Amino acid sequence: MRKLSADTLDLTRRPRRNRKAEWARRLVRENRITTDDLIWPIFINEGDTPREPIASMPGVDRLSVAEAVKVAQEAVALGIPAIALFPNTPSHLRDETGSEAMNPDNLTCRALRAIKAAVPGLGLVTDVALDPYTSHGHDGLIEDGRILNDETVAVLCKQALVQAEAGADIIAPSDMMDGRVGAIRAALDDAGFQDVSIMAYSAKYASAYYGPFRDAVGSSGTLSGDKKTYQMDYANSDEAIIEAELDIAEGADMVMVKPGLPYLDIVHRLKSTFGVPTYAYQVSGEYAMLQAASAAGMIDIEKAMVETLTAFKRAGADGILTYFAPAMARYLAKNA
Ligand code: PBG
Repeated sequence: MRKLSADTLDLTRRPRRNRKAEWARRLVRENRITTDDLIWPIFINEGDTPREPIASMPGVDRLSVAEAVKVAQEAVALGIPAIALFPNTPSHLRDETGSEAMNPDNLTCRALRAIKAAVPGLGLVTDVALDPYTSHGHDGLIEDGRILNDETVAVLCKQALVQAEAGADIIAPSDMMDGRVGAIRAALDDAGFQDVSIMAYSAKYASAYYGPFRDAVGSSGTLSGDKKTYQMDYANSDEAIIEAELDIAEGADMVMVKPGLPYLDIVHRLKSTFGVPTYAYQVSGEYAMLQAASAAGMIDIEKAMVETLTAFKRAGADGILTYFAPAMARYLAKNA
């Protein structure tokens, strides 16, 4: 805590001088968001319908594989470094054990191959977790209502391998099972994928803000119960340090905090404690709230977008996964 000194009480000091004009504000600005900070999450659909709107996420559609390739090209044209893929698995392919996750020809893998072939220079991030593939909507295997840890990790390793084989550059485990980062790292290395990175969803909280995402990947109708035995309790902060420490020790190249804006304290703690590349996920519910407020005429969506994304940078994030990525990139290009 800074003590009040005679100096800080000096009434001749006028902080407003540094805010007197836009040129002055630009000169003293401490943090900026750039296109390099953006990861664009997209949803992939089976079939040929190019786009299917997601009711709760205005401006975000589920894309066919062919349309996803076009979006990937758009990402490159906008200067966005990476996209993150999330599949809406057809319901007849969802089962108790999420076996479709290990199918080398599943939707995610087909999209990866098509995008990699068309735009080899774009970073491709894939989600490792079973929820888009299980009939019960949980991220892991279940026995008597319990989520099994080590059995799930074995499946996640296979899921990571089919994704790496299909062209994933960054494997992002979002499942919150214990020990999964180390197991996935070993599985990737054994198969010769030393250069495939791991971005660990290290501090992923059991959150009400994932609602629209679960609509988007079709798991909201199927999810039984909640995810509180594996995702973190939002009352905790020290626990995030433990999670990130383990993930880094197990080989994570990057760590992530999720959701985003309500968890900036966690972003700041992880970045200042470990100094590793640290990301935040501005999740579906955060996006949906801003869009809803804008549709109701309550906020200026462009200003809110720039403000929230800059806030992530101020907290110490190296980058942000955000559904605003293309809009933000366009804004930055226009205001360069
Ligand atoms: C799946 C996963 C979720 C999100 C990303 N990966 C949902 C969940 O854990 O239920 C949420 C992303 C968002 O809300 O935008 N493990």
